[in-house]
Amino acid sequence: MTTFPELHTSKRILMGPGPSDAHPKVLLAMATPLIGHLDPEFLRIMDEVKEMVRLTLQTKNELTFVVSAPGSAGMETCLVNLLEPGDEAVICVHGVFGNRMADIAGRCGANVIRVEAPWGKPIDPAALEEALSGRRPKLVAIVHAETSTGVLQPLERISEITHRAGALLVVDAVTSWCGAPVKVDEWEIDALYSGSQKCLSAPPGLSPVTFSPRAVKALDERKTKVQSWFLDLTQVRHYWSGSKRAYHHTAPVSSVLAMHEALRLVLEEGLENRFRRHRENHELLRAGLEPLGFEFIVEPQYRLPMLNAVKLPAGVDDAEYRKRLLDEFNIEVGGGLGDFAGKIWRIGLMGNSSSANHVNMLLDALRTMINK
Ligand SMILES: Cc1ncc(COP(=O)(O)O)c(C=O)c1O
Repeated sequence: MTTFPELHTSKRILMGPGPSDAHPKVLLAMATPLIGHLDPEFLRIMDEVKEMVRLTLQTKNELTFVVSAPGSAGMETCLVNLLEPGDEAVICVHGVFGNRMADIAGRCGANVIRVEAPWGKPIDPAALEEALSGRRPKLVAIVHAETSTGVLQPLERISEITHRAGALLVVDAVTSWCGAPVKVDEWEIDALYSGSQKCLSAPPGLSPVTFSPRAVKALDERKTKVQSWFLDLTQVRHYWSGSKRAYHHTAPVSSVLAMHEALRLVLEEGLENRFRRHRENHELLRAGLEPLGFEFIVEPQYRLPMLNAVKLPAGVDDAEYRKRLLDEFNIEVGGGLGDFAGKIWRIGLMGNSSSANHVNMLLDALRTMINK
């Protein structure tokens, strides 16, 4: 009979676009003995997770919970529930993930209008305003932290313009959540999704979502059934809230326990302290990378602190140097996606991977490799 080797993975230092390094307490939570997914103790843990998600997203939205699947499922949850065939959807595209939203909106049967910005730049609010003139779309969707380009998209003006046109604002905060401010209520965001594996530093596979009362009203007023059974909020919400908690699917218990611990650690650190730490480590990295010849592709005021997109210096081959970083130093950084493949690196300083120690390990490895 064939036998298989015992599981073995290397101890990597995760400095790519996610997952990031998890705190040992989060990993320990994963190893807690399993309990049933409808056990009263687990239901209490789900309630606490919801409350901590609200606190970190700075919202009071009642309909806030965690989708049992990665960020792309959060994206799909927002779009399949808010869009019906024939609706108009304005999708802002300035990287890979805006493109993915446009694809999903099209699959929902929506008439998709794209507002684009060159990769490495934010969406210009004036371009959105122009696209909305004379229209009344159901929603405008935009990525807050575009992981493929390293751009932080300011949202206040976008929100104002969207609501003036009578549309709902859908935001992707997969990479920004827990690493930079995400103010759902103050910025009047109607639907938002994120992911567990970036600045929260929990294992991948969960996607918190939140919906404003306006979005819930749009959901209640749907004329057609949501085409996805699994992501249909009208059903799954009864598993995560209400007095009669009913079986919908079997939640990934261990992942939810890990998320609980990761959220607890975020709140223990304090949101402002955490955001400051992300900014400071970004600055430390910048100060070390630029003398080595790496060039940031995003203007300073739009740079993500947790995802540093940099052009490679002459003589540094993308694939060869990333392989050496992994093989010789156990350090993972991300390569470019789409238009940027082979041209840039995406260096993540997310959650637990945002530390001076991580920055110094990477800079030392690069200095050794580049011989500077
Ligand atoms: C901005 C953004 N949106 C959506 C996603 C999709 O998340 P997941 O890979 O967890 O499905 C990612 C993943 O990197 C992302 O960075």
